[in-house]
Amino acid sequence: MKICILPGDGIGPEIMAEAVRVLQALDLGCEMTEALLGGCAVDATGDPYPEATQRLAQEADAVLLGAVGGPQWDDLPRAQRPERGLLGIRKQLGLFANLRPAILYPELANASTLKPEIVAGLDILIVRELTGDIYFGQPRGVETRDVDGHQERFGYNTMHYSESEIRRIVRVAFEAARRRHRKLCSVDKMNVLETTQLWRDVASETASEYPDVELSHMLVDNAAMQLVRNPKQFDVIVTGNMFGDILSDEASMLTGSIGMLPSASLDANNKGLYEPCHGSAPDIAGQGVANPLATILSVAMMLRYTFGREGEALRIESAVKKVLAQGCRTADIYEAGTRRVGTRAMGDAVLAAL
Ligand code: IPM
Ligand code: MG
Repeated sequence: MKICILPGDGIGPEIMAEAVRVLQALDLGCEMTEALLGGCAVDATGDPYPEATQRLAQEADAVLLGAVGGPQWDDLPRAQRPERGLLGIRKQLGLFANLRPAILYPELANASTLKPEIVAGLDILIVRELTGDIYFGQPRGVETRDVDGHQERFGYNTMHYSESEIRRIVRVAFEAARRRHRKLCSVDKMNVLETTQLWRDVASETASEYPDVELSHMLVDNAAMQLVRNPKQFDVIVTGNMFGDILSDEASMLTGSIGMLPSASLDANNKGLYEPCHGSAPDIAGQGVANPLATILSVAMMLRYTFGREGEALRIESAVKKVLAQGCRTADIYEAGTRRVGTRAMGDAVLAAL
């Protein structure tokens, strides 16, 4: 079990330290190597995804990532932005399938901004395509052009998907739905965008391979609305890179805190990159108050999807449920009557529960 550890920027190193302690406590004999990705890599080498990191990530069976980015790198040229490191590793490793579960732990029902009865028992999975779409489409850029007879700056990006790119992510979503409640909702914007008409057609064609799963389609604007109106109507959602980025942030907040949600990004052979859904939170970095649970739960996803260790994955997830039941809360999920703890103490509590 070769694991490449990329703590990244901001709160990344703090939350990663707790996740690594959990992994070590399981005593699985994994081999861990640490490397730089994001802003810390730019500072050290000028490159957000340096070659040394590329080599370690390619050799590893799985990559565990904290978070990247921060305001100090905002003015850099686009190719050096920390986010480029993240997009680069996703693309290079072929991690096209991004799984983002949004589960509401009953203890956190009041942490959501939605009424408890709307979100109680929520358990949805967003399957986001991660290596295509307008994120990677060429041509792209900003340049000065002649527009209606005068010169002005002109910005453009290109949205595209091939049939095979759509089919492979839709299949991942159908397989996931099969292991859950057998309902799949494919999200597109076919009333305006040709690319997403193709998306809808391919999803419908693929459905014949999965007669046991019920497929529906929804336009993305409606899906955004339905997610806050009645989120429990969804089981699995599958969508493209851009819509998936937006809808997964929205879905995360249904659960009370984006600080709770893990994610997996998988290639065709279950090699994966695992990271919390949240960002590097520069405003609270270095204070020891960030919530490490999303990263700890990402370790559980890694054990499940890349290493097939369902038993250990469940142990981590039960330990997290136990500390929540005990009333341990980091600042992002704190409410009156619970016990406020920092990053390290939350890690300690999970270790004790394990
Ligand atoms: C995410 C993030 C990234 C994305 C950024 C940091 C490039 O928002 O993982 O959702 O847009 O994919
Ligand atoms: Mg995002």
